[in-house]
Amino acid sequence: MSQNLTQRYSAYVNELFVREDETLRHVRQQTVARGIPLISLEPNEAKLLQMLVRLCGAERVVEVGTLAGYSGICIARALPAHGKLFTIEVSSVHAEVARAHFEDAGLADKVTVMQGAGMDVLPNLASKGPFDLMFIDADKASYHSYLEWAAQNLRVGGGVVADNVFWQGYIFDPKTEDDHGVVKFNQSLAQHPQFDSTIIEVGDGIALGVKTG
Ligand SMILES: C[S@@+](CC[C@H](N)C(=O)[O-])C[C@H]1O[C@@H](n2cnc3c(N)ncnc32)[C@H](O)[C@@H]1O
Repeated sequence: MSQNLTQRYSAYVNELFVREDETLRHVRQQTVARGIPLISLEPNEAKLLQMLVRLCGAERVVEVGTLAGYSGICIARALPAHGKLFTIEVSSVHAEVARAHFEDAGLADKVTVMQGAGMDVLPNLASKGPFDLMFIDADKASYHSYLEWAAQNLRVGGGVVADNVFWQGYIFDPKTEDDHGVVKFNQSLAQHPQFDSTIIEVGDGIALGVKTG
């Protein structure tokens, strides 16, 4: 398929289905204004994530890598009234900005921001499970460990979703710890006996695994 056609398909989908409202635009603007790197999901990726939350009827979701709350708002909006998102963020600045954004979005009662490194915080969350969905979007070197946590703490039928699994092409020539982290995650997910999985070729690659046992 030509690059040109791929871009036209993408523009077509975005125009028809992807709407970034004022709240999400505000989060994007504030991310830049607060000097936080603008590395949130693109609107079409966030829309896909929102659909996955709805598709598995998620009520309890864990996210690693909150940033300023963009993806978290999309997840929380797809939860039922009693649903809950626990989102983990290592940076105290990002965590504080995200809390304000969840409050502004009217989602504060559905979202708990937990400040700390993913692998330090996750053990404290296990007792609140099992979870319906885990979204991984933080330090690449830990992706594999996050996957193992998902295997142990998702319900059967629940999903693990991970962003940046093409890692801008470095998966084909890994050099850094992060590069190798993503390659290890992809291989582990592909071969994992408890997940049926694939990569959705959108953005920088979004991995999806459904827990089967
Ligand atoms: C790509 S951004 C997340 C974007 C966010 N999911 C969104 O789409 O709006 C990655 C975030 O992970 C955070 N992070 C990095 N290492 C982490 C770790 N070990 N534990 C938790 N968060 C971490 C970074 O500070 C950053 O805010």
